[in-house]
Amino acid sequence: MATKSDSDLPFSQACEHNKAPILEHLRALLKGCDSVLEVGAGTGQHAVHFAKLLPHLTWHPSDVSNNLGTLALRVLNASVENLRKPVRLDVDHCRWNCGRFDAIFTANTLHIMSERSVENFFLNIPNHMNTKAQLIVYGPFKYNGKFTTPSNSNFDLWLKTRNTDSGLRDFEWVSALAKHAGLQLKHDFSMPANNQLLVWEIGL
Ligand SMILES: C[S@@+](CC[C@H](N)C(=O)[O-])C[C@H]1O[C@@H](n2cnc3c(N)ncnc32)[C@H](O)[C@@H]1O
Repeated sequence: MATKSDSDLPFSQACEHNKAPILEHLRALLKGCDSVLEVGAGTGQHAVHFAKLLPHLTWHPSDVSNNLGTLALRVLNASVENLRKPVRLDVDHCRWNCGRFDAIFTANTLHIMSERSVENFFLNIPNHMNTKAQLIVYGPFKYNGKFTTPSNSNFDLWLKTRNTDSGLRDFEWVSALAKHAGLQLKHDFSMPANNQLLVWEIGL
């Protein structure tokens, strides 16, 4: 594989801001977990940070094929023992290219995917969760059809100018999809910059 330094790779300033507050929760949530699948890992900054600082588990990043090359380079550069080579995973594919995990993590993806893709995501989730596994979702949400802040409303408008299928999702709609998938909501943490960290657990 071609070598590229991290400074040549796609970079998210938002990841740098949110990785510490997310990690604070992951430390507690993932205490008894051995394996985590990350869906839509993007630049890989979260994967590298969380794998380094949660050495008791293996972190399995994934993304769609367009992002896989640069994600793989960041993972390679990081050379973290418990960070696995990323796999190609598109939530719209009926068979995901991976096994079962103690937790599935995804950040800032549900407002990027179409509604149909979010539905597919929740349909596939139970096939990849071990008993008592958790689903941990980070990002901005609407509640009862309302934006929590004007900045989230502006963000939604901006997303839709880029792709009309994108947009902040209703917490209630996402919760209904999760319930249908056999998941129980355990936590709804408020996070900095008007984001949430939603945590579900699969029923027995
Ligand atoms: C805004 S980026 C977030 C990346 C990273 N998780 C973060 O927090 O910076 C959205 C991610 O969702 C991924 N994504 C979009 N559609 C997807 C799909 N159908 N299946 C899996 N991932 C998808 C994109 O490839 C991208 O990595």
